[in-house]
Amino acid sequence: MFQPNLLEGQRILVTGGGSGLGFAMASAFANFGASLCLMGRRQQKLEEAAAQLPGSVQIVSCDIRDAEAVEKALEQIWRESPLDILVNNAAGNFAAPSESLSHRAVDAVLGTVLHGTAYITLGCGRRWLAEGRPGNVLSIVTTYASTGSGWVLPSAMGKAGVVAMTRSLAVEWGGRGIRLNAIAPGPFPTEGATERLAPDPRLLEVMRKQNPLQRFGDPAELANLAVFMVAPQNSYMNGEVVTLDGGEWLQGAGEFNFLRALSLEDWQRAASARKA
Ligand code: HXC
Repeated sequence: MFQPNLLEGQRILVTGGGSGLGFAMASAFANFGASLCLMGRRQQKLEEAAAQLPGSVQIVSCDIRDAEAVEKALEQIWRESPLDILVNNAAGNFAAPSESLSHRAVDAVLGTVLHGTAYITLGCGRRWLAEGRPGNVLSIVTTYASTGSGWVLPSAMGKAGVVAMTRSLAVEWGGRGIRLNAIAPGPFPTEGATERLAPDPRLLEVMRKQNPLQRFGDPAELANLAVFMVAPQNSYMNGEVVTLDGGEWLQGAGEFNFLRALSLEDWQRAASARKA
């Protein structure tokens, strides 16, 4: 299915598409022939990103926390041409002890991750339903949307909500031609996320080493999965959350996975002691 024209004729909006993982996905979509629309808060960043993509790219600056701005942005997009695919990538997050969070800090993250994602998904969905057009939504969540995670409480709460939205609407809208899926990435360090989530580089090294594959994800690997997820040839997948984390969350979940700390020599010593 991975032919160069895989996404030809598909118009895709990527929120937060001006940088990081959003831009990596947008590039991959464009390389497979999609026509792109990038949304983000900073016009200049969007212009720089669009200049690096093939073909004509529509850019729309909008803070998705603002419901009215989202509605105006969607009107602007639809005036040019209706969307076929929405990729909910825009997010906000920072690591902090939960008891230190002010209500503004909670709102700053939930406003983007939960409310903004809902505004834009409902805005696209309403239009697709009214026009009888098929629609397709891919949301980028996280593995801790299912497990929860300390120190990133509002993000965990918001992303869990996005998973609930994905599963709810997959059923409610599936029969009317709209499918919704999600990718739950593990560690894919980007400039925007790293400075907010692991201010000390030593912490990144801990994260890398605890991954069963002993490495971080490459944005291109996420982009490849995103291409598969949105492609028309994958049209039977609906309401699914696909994990892409090198096995990181399972490493933390399996009770005896702590035995990874033992070397082969440790096991041999233990076997000799047992035989003796
Ligand atoms: C503690 C913080 C803080 C921090 C902000 N706040 N950053 N508190 N530690 N590092 C508090 C502020 O003190 C303020 O509360 C409130 O949050 C709002 O902060 P502002 O800076 O005014 O908000 P704003 O400019 O809107 O910024 C939103 C943001 C910011 C979410 C805080 O980080 C942002 O714009 N991020 C977008 C990009 C991003 O986060 N990328 C990472 C996504 S990674 P008070 O009470 O003082 O006014 C992701 C998944 C990760 O989502 C998966 C990893 C594996």
